[in-house]
Amino acid sequence: MASQMASFNPKNVKSIGVYASGGDAPGMNAGIRAVVRTAIQRNLRVVGIIQGYTGFLKKEFVEMELRSVANIIQRGGSILKAGRCMEFLKPEFRQTAVDSLRSAGIDALVCIGGDGSFTGAQALWQEHQIPIVGIPGTIDNDIYGTELTIGFDTAVNTALDAIDRIRDTAASHDRLFIIEVMGRDSGFIAVAAGVAGGAEDIFIPEHPFDMESTVEVIKRGIGRGKMSSIFVAAEGPKPGRSYELANMIHKKCGLEAKVCILGHIQRGGAPTATDRLLASRMGSAAVEQILKGQCNIMVGIKGEDLTYVDLSECLKKKKHVNQGLIDLAKILSN
Ligand code: F6P
Repeated sequence: MASQMASFNPKNVKSIGVYASGGDAPGMNAGIRAVVRTAIQRNLRVVGIIQGYTGFLKKEFVEMELRSVANIIQRGGSILKAGRCMEFLKPEFRQTAVDSLRSAGIDALVCIGGDGSFTGAQALWQEHQIPIVGIPGTIDNDIYGTELTIGFDTAVNTALDAIDRIRDTAASHDRLFIIEVMGRDSGFIAVAAGVAGGAEDIFIPEHPFDMESTVEVIKRGIGRGKMSSIFVAAEGPKPGRSYELANMIHKKCGLEAKVCILGHIQRGGAPTATDRLLASRMGSAAVEQILKGQCNIMVGIKGEDLTYVDLSECLKKKKHVNQGLIDLAKILSN
């Protein structure tokens, strides 16, 4: 089917389903709250679907009321749970999911998740004409069409807090630390936390390790009397990639690099004000788009303004990290 901004007759929508999918991200609850409260105030019935696409297959649906989302704006995780569902890649499972949605009387969907979740969402529209609007919820910030995803700001601040603490030990013991942050395919967290945390170098999955340049950074620092160093590395496809980097540094410079892997602590915790605000705006806007008959889109943000981007475009195009920020980290840590 052609990739274009899709529309449908909103008069047929009496009931919407909302779900969180992929990895959880702080701020998802604020998004769920915004969807539920906006929809109810606009006289729609709202159904929460538990654990993303798994809930479609298992028919795990809960009726949502205004009070179902009380006291959650400040909570991390997702009250509707989250998760990846590999079965959803197969058309026969999507057919089962659509049968479940129809029997539950769900006419349209709001999906909070990342690119994997949007791939499933797009298939539901293209194959079965289930109207769907996406909200970008992932700590990775790697979705094309939005400057920010829900959860990114909180994850960066969590990583930054850890970097600041490790810096105390690095300075007290004259040590080199590699702090590994999340980011399977992209280095947005590494770059933001690295620059804000004063890292000397930043390693991201998009680029291979450049050992020559890293060795130069280390030697230059030692030459200036620098006794401790902080490097930030994104985990890439497999957590623990930083040990490889530490071994290379040891081989090339004879220095011991301590590795600290932050892991899932970056996914949890209370969302920052930025994430709560973003999720509240996006959740409400997603419902309004459905009421206008717009679908197969993602709500994004550019500067101060919300934007609406075709899901196919979000999935086809790649958002790139700003290489200038990595260069900036090197200059400023001199
Ligand atoms: O997509 C978000 C993310 O946190 C990535 O940064 C990370 O690589 C991955 O999820 C980890 O996924 P899981 O929790 O399934 O191990």
